[in-house]
Amino acid sequence: MKRTNVKELLKSTEYDKEVTVQGWVRTKRDSKQVVFIALNDGSIIHNIQAVAAIDAFPEELLKSITTGACVQVKGMLVKSPGQGQSVEIQAKEISIYGLADETFPLQKKGHTLEFLREIAHLRPRTNTIGAIMRIRHAMAYGIHKYFNDNGFYYLHAPVITGSDAEGAGEMFRVTTLDLNNPPKNEDGSINYNEDFFGKETNLTVSGQLEAETAAMALSKVYTFGPTFRAENSNTPRHLAEFWMIEPEMAFYDINDNMDVAEDMLKYLVKYALDNCLDDLTFLNNMYDKELLNRLNMVKDSTFKRITYTEGVDILIAANKKFEFKPEWGKDLQKEHENHLVDHFKCPVIITDYPRGIKAFYMKQNEDGKTVRAMDVLFPYVGEIIGGSQREENYDKLIARIREMGLPEKEMWWYLELRKFGTAPHSGFGLGLERLILFVTGMTNIRDVIPFPRTPKNAEF
Ligand code: 4AD
Ligand code: MG
Repeated sequence: MKRTNVKELLKSTEYDKEVTVQGWVRTKRDSKQVVFIALNDGSIIHNIQAVAAIDAFPEELLKSITTGACVQVKGMLVKSPGQGQSVEIQAKEISIYGLADETFPLQKKGHTLEFLREIAHLRPRTNTIGAIMRIRHAMAYGIHKYFNDNGFYYLHAPVITGSDAEGAGEMFRVTTLDLNNPPKNEDGSINYNEDFFGKETNLTVSGQLEAETAAMALSKVYTFGPTFRAENSNTPRHLAEFWMIEPEMAFYDINDNMDVAEDMLKYLVKYALDNCLDDLTFLNNMYDKELLNRLNMVKDSTFKRITYTEGVDILIAANKKFEFKPEWGKDLQKEHENHLVDHFKCPVIITDYPRGIKAFYMKQNEDGKTVRAMDVLFPYVGEIIGGSQREENYDKLIARIREMGLPEKEMWWYLELRKFGTAPHSGFGLGLERLILFVTGMTNIRDVIPFPRTPKNAEF
């Protein structure tokens, strides 16, 4: 059957032509002679209006069409005499796929985002969540396009792994053992030899280590997949399951790495402005009048690059009452990151963090105190990217692994990359949902992923 989506119809100037449209009823309004039905099919944020003459349809049929129902309308596309739309459909034939009774929860407009989270199976039918989903799609596509156009290869990193890539121990275990009666070793510990993989396994916290293996052959690669962290941080910026993009580049040092991060982020913001303006304008008007300004500002900005030490100096000199006192050697808190971004009024890249607060794989600086790490801090969301140049020296890497008490034996293959044809290399991780937070202006990460996974919450 020939059908046209709402996006195409609203653009069309082929009047007095018969068209078929399918979608969900957003609102229905009665007047004396006609019924106005606003239909949406998700192809665009706007609805198309179908106008049904009361005497042309059975009363029962028109009555049964209510908000939430799914219908097909065949009719003439005409120039709309009314305000608010350029075209409308004069309905000739209406068929119903599915009715929705008065218990359909999205009757009235203006539900809170909190309420919508409780009906995650229906919330895509709202303007807000629909807009966010289209933007999320555009960003995913833009990311693949950016890397493809810049000579990167897409690597599918495993979801189940035996390693803890961040060395932070925040992993979800994967097992088929009977938790009520696990096989035991003589000393009483659990015998993982009998588990599905014959060893302890978990859901990945990062595809970086696997990406490094591929970068040592294909030079420029990236991963883009689900990532899992069992950190018990119930904040508006953390998910237990999120999507991470991790480029990894052979022969790139920390400065090259920063160049890629900055170029990619600006490309993506521009991509959103170029391709999602209807949805962004809706979100700007509805939630955050500064959204479009902020996006344009970042698109045209030059990111400020400073070292961690310079950052701490700025924080101390600010003489401000922070909840956590800024101090060299301690991790930067959200309030510190915000201050630095406000201070420079643009995205900030911070490099050369103290080795004690960063992962084992980061390249150690000559000073013996810092590592070649980089975090990209964005206005509004804080840390959007974390990355580094990698330690490519076998002796230095193994010394660090031992010093940190990490499972050296498990890391044999990662270490071998430094044994056979090692090369300087760098990479970073971009949290997709943090990017979507920035681009949509939403304030809670639960609203930018279709089905959020957070502590004590895995409904749907
Ligand atoms: O800074 P992170 O932990 O870095 C890594 O995982 C490195 N292996 C990346 C690399 O060098 N290849 O995480 C990277 C980014 C963060 O900056 C943040 O945007 C996002 O991932 N992220 C989260 N997003 C949502 N919920 C969480 N719990 C997140 N943890 C990290
Ligand atoms: Mg980080």
